[in-house]
Amino acid sequence: MQKIDCGKVPKITLSNGSVIPVIGMGTFGSDNYDAHTIAKAVKSGIEMGYRHIDCASVYDNEKEIGAVLKEVFDDGIVKRDEIWITSKVWNDKHNNVIESCKQTLKDLQLEYLDLYLVHWPFPNFHPPRCDVNTRQENAVPYIHENYMKTWEQMESLQKMGLTKNIGTSNMTIPKMKLLLRDCNIKPVINEMEIHPHFQQQELFDFLKSNGIEVIGYSPIGSPKRPERDRTPEDTVDIEDPVIVSIARRLNVHPAVVCLKWAVQRGQITIPFTVKEDKLYNNIKGIIEDPLTDDDMLNISKIDKGNRLIKGQVFLWKTAESWEDLWDLDGKIKNN
Ligand SMILES: NC(=O)c1ccc[n+]([C@@H]2O[C@H](COP(=O)([O-])OP(=O)(O)OC[C@H]3O[C@@H](n4cnc5c(N)ncnc54)[C@H](OP(=O)(O)O)[C@@H]3O)[C@@H](O)[C@H]2O)c1
Repeated sequence: MQKIDCGKVPKITLSNGSVIPVIGMGTFGSDNYDAHTIAKAVKSGIEMGYRHIDCASVYDNEKEIGAVLKEVFDDGIVKRDEIWITSKVWNDKHNNVIESCKQTLKDLQLEYLDLYLVHWPFPNFHPPRCDVNTRQENAVPYIHENYMKTWEQMESLQKMGLTKNIGTSNMTIPKMKLLLRDCNIKPVINEMEIHPHFQQQELFDFLKSNGIEVIGYSPIGSPKRPERDRTPEDTVDIEDPVIVSIARRLNVHPAVVCLKWAVQRGQITIPFTVKEDKLYNNIKGIIEDPLTDDDMLNISKIDKGNRLIKGQVFLWKTAESWEDLWDLDGKIKNN
């Protein structure tokens, strides 16, 4: 196996002083890979030099990943404090955050997490492998008082030492403003969809100006995402002529150009793959051959506002369309 000196991977210092590697391994297999395959890839990734793993209870593979984490610790490949591990509370556990985090810790065989996120700002959930029309009978819009009850439990977790940092995922500017107004402990990170065709510049700038760092998910445009997250209008980042032409010049896959762009833009990136050659190309890609200023400028111009993970399965009865989840006119849709 080809290895990377993990010391060469850039890191970002969060507002509270914690330090996170800018590339992590995604572990959501988009319903394409089983838990053992993903866990095996996590082991290879750590052996290769990855020091950041993005987990979630809903990915249904934390037990398997926990078993390989134990192996790499026992074998002395890495020490616990040399690796960043994120997990997320799933939507059906917003009232049981502490219990959920404890279960994740048990599954991952850890004493603490580096980062625990509220996966979505809605308590609505969907069964695994469901289709796009699946709706939960009692789904509700965003209710700020309820989100704050969830957030207070997140704050307790940090005070209890079960996680070093807490953060959010899939937030919008209006929701984040309310959270910042009412929280006692600020989120240090928001995890959100970002790829060249969906740059979310306004939210990105808002977060950065409030001292909140950004983890960009689906950084390659999630080419193997589940059927429920595909619509005919979706565009394909890794086929964009600008990305393809830079990739040809640098002799890398267009996926690697997306990752270089992400890191140079100042975000943390968490690509998914279980394939050893891609794992290697991805981590190598972010430490070698940076994009030029012109490349960065050209990529900034190909944003198409193409959200891929629209979240239709989280809609409530009276919601009209997936746009209602994302506060597009600056207001929270709460009916
Ligand atoms: N917070 C949230 O709500 C949320 C939502 C979605 C995702 N996430 C996180 O973000 C992670 C990444 O997102 P994602 O899995 O949706 O999409 P992604 O990372 O954009 O795309 C993953 C796909 O890209 C391909 N790929 C990876 N590296 C490649 C390379 N060097 N060359 C060519 N193809 C390459 C892989 O193909 P192969 O399968 O062939 O390897 C893989 O299927 C997830 O695993 C999860 O941890 C979080």
